[in-house]
Amino acid sequence: FSRYTGLIDKYRDYLPVHDDTRIISLAEGNTPLIRLHNIPKLLQKEVDIYVKYEGLNPTGSFKDRGMTMAITKAVEAGSRATVCASTGNTSASAAAYSARAGITAFVLIPEGKIALGKLAQAMMHGAVVIQIQGNFDDGMRLVKEVAEHAPITIVNSINPYRLQGQKTAAFEIVEALGRAPDYHCLPVGNAGNISAYWMGYTQFADIGIVNKRPKMCGYQASGAAPFLRGHPVAHPETVATAIRIGNPQSWDKAVNAQQESGGWFDEFTDEDILAAQKLLAEREGIFCEPASAIALAGAMKDINNGKIPEGSTVTCTLTGHGLKDPDTAIKQSTTPLIKVKAELEEVKAAVLQNMN
Ligand code: F0G
Repeated sequence: FSRYTGLIDKYRDYLPVHDDTRIISLAEGNTPLIRLHNIPKLLQKEVDIYVKYEGLNPTGSFKDRGMTMAITKAVEAGSRATVCASTGNTSASAAAYSARAGITAFVLIPEGKIALGKLAQAMMHGAVVIQIQGNFDDGMRLVKEVAEHAPITIVNSINPYRLQGQKTAAFEIVEALGRAPDYHCLPVGNAGNISAYWMGYTQFADIGIVNKRPKMCGYQASGAAPFLRGHPVAHPETVATAIRIGNPQSWDKAVNAQQESGGWFDEFTDEDILAAQKLLAEREGIFCEPASAIALAGAMKDINNGKIPEGSTVTCTLTGHGLKDPDTAIKQSTTPLIKVKAELEEVKAAVLQNMN
């Protein structure tokens, strides 16, 4: 028997750690790659769609992959505090891993524009939560400025160790499939994750573990789609608050991933995003947050229109767990809540009336 102890232990030969590095881990990574059964049937297309369910990481998002590396290296360098700007998931992860390491986490979040679960996490893990009257991009600018004036380590994805950790998701997909997928679909916000996946696939191609890399397909919310506009967006807006970002920090890396892979960027409305989230939950039993569902919205559109041809193997990263944002889920749900007396007759009637 061997106990899984996290992605740094597993992939240490591919990561910048030393034998004596003290690893800060919550046994992140090793998330399931789930094959969709019902949605491909709905599409009436011969495609294999897999979802990489990153919501099953310790704090419920893919950020833990990057955070185990960033916090490990911060501690190794003697840092006593971390800081990040966040739409919620980075702050939850930074708070948890900083707690694990015994150092202080400062998190800057956009006031009123963060999903409730994520705020609860930052608070529970004892982060210093600074709500700014501005958006993620304002927070990012302030974090860079404040780090010049205080002895704190930035743990946003501009910290190079973040992408190093996040690239391991591509390694896991290759191991699960026995090869790279043909297409990899994922949401793009600050653009770190698409860059990290491309690094991972490229590293495995360079050392001959795979002989080809996937086309990288990055999807953005229409109200926050700088890659579609070709320039930063001043006032990003979307129900998918995780990707409510107008000025992505990893712009060049993401464009490189898209171009070098022969992939593309596309955009979806809030309505499309929520419909994909609901479809996945209803038809496959998989609950992801709105931002994550855009990966599936993208895959479905591009499978339907033939851009992704039949016979393809497609992976979609579901970046965060649906439980992060219960408000949006409940608000969009049309499922009636049936109220009855605590009596057999009424419950029986409710059951019989709703059989289909
Ligand atoms: N999906 C979710 C659930 C996210 O939280 C994020 C980013 C993304 C997708 C986009 O990934 O930024 O690497 O392109 N969330 C960051 C945060 C910005 O602060 O939690 P990206």
